[in-house]
Amino acid sequence: MKTKFKNPRAKHDFQGRPCSITGVGSYVPEKILTNAQLEKLVDTSDEWITTRTGIKERRIAAATEFTSDLAAKAARRAMEMAGITAEQIDLIIVASITPDMPFPNTACLVQQKIGARRVPAFDIEAACSGFLYALEVGQNFIASRNFETVLVIGAEKLSAITNWTDRNTCVLFGDGAGAAILQSRADSHGLLATVLGADGNKAELLSMPGGGSRCPASAQSVADGLHFLRMDGKETFKNAVQAMCSAANEVLTRCEIDITRIKCVIPHQANRRIIDAVGERLGATPEQLFVNLHKYGNTSAASVAIALDEAVRSGKVQRGDLILIVAFGAGLTWGAAVIEW
Ligand code: COA
Repeated sequence: MKTKFKNPRAKHDFQGRPCSITGVGSYVPEKILTNAQLEKLVDTSDEWITTRTGIKERRIAAATEFTSDLAAKAARRAMEMAGITAEQIDLIIVASITPDMPFPNTACLVQQKIGARRVPAFDIEAACSGFLYALEVGQNFIASRNFETVLVIGAEKLSAITNWTDRNTCVLFGDGAGAAILQSRADSHGLLATVLGADGNKAELLSMPGGGSRCPASAQSVADGLHFLRMDGKETFKNAVQAMCSAANEVLTRCEIDITRIKCVIPHQANRRIIDAVGERLGATPEQLFVNLHKYGNTSAASVAIALDEAVRSGKVQRGDLILIVAFGAGLTWGAAVIEW
């Protein structure tokens, strides 16, 4: 459903001080795993993967490279774009389903790696919607707690929880990280509105059952493969399209803008068919849709953060352009945001 905009300038939907994104950055590991290489690991084909998902290759982190390393590299690039040093950061939030370890949190490890002060640092787990959840939390610290500079990161080493013998899942995922620096700017409204949602009734659709308090790690849990990601692909697909469309429409309504005013739509990069279905239902043109899925596969919490960085650095979005980000993931969780870049 399209909404008519009332104001020439998009409306913002937040109380308190406005929050701008002053820098973005991303990092993907060097190692590329192509569909042709996957053909040698499992019974699959480049043709099947390409037509069903749109993915051609993905990045795989080295054995000695962890989620916090990817996150710190993306963070440094975002800090460089924002023109800030690590000492200026007042809060660090990392969204991830593949933290370096259950505790301490990955944000603390990033704090140490980038040389930030002893500022609060915590993780958010909302799967592929995690970066949008983290953006909204970071925005709220700026709006209501007078924090000046917040570092928000989506980072994943999904290769560590992928079952490389399961063709249903191993072709879909990849590693990487994306980061954003949030700062209060009196003269602009970077983040205009966000919508977040979740449905725990569908938790079973996408999960990693082992390693928590329900199925602690044991020889049996490892033998049963409970420490690998599992997914009901078909049901996940249907829920993804529905939830992403409704979150996107709701956030556009809150800003009182029409999809035609959005310069760049950044959907979670899970499957080309999901992206196209969402784009079509929203009334977005192919030119509006940002797609880098063919290069990286699904990088969960890092997905839209990497895409945002690439959209900015490639010049697809310029200062003042409106961006719609929309994501969906395990939980189920979903979210959407409108950003004036
Ligand atoms: N290579 C070859 N065949 C494969 C395969 C692979 N990598 N993976 C699965 N198959 C087979 C299955 O075994 C099944 O075979 P069967 O019919 O003999 O049992 C068949 O392909 C399933 O095909 P189809 O029903 O056409 O698959 P699909 O259109 O549902 O596509 C997904 C499968 C996983 C690509 C799709 O469901 C999907 O993308 N879902 C959403 C996943 C997602 O985005 N998750 C993250 C959300 S954040």
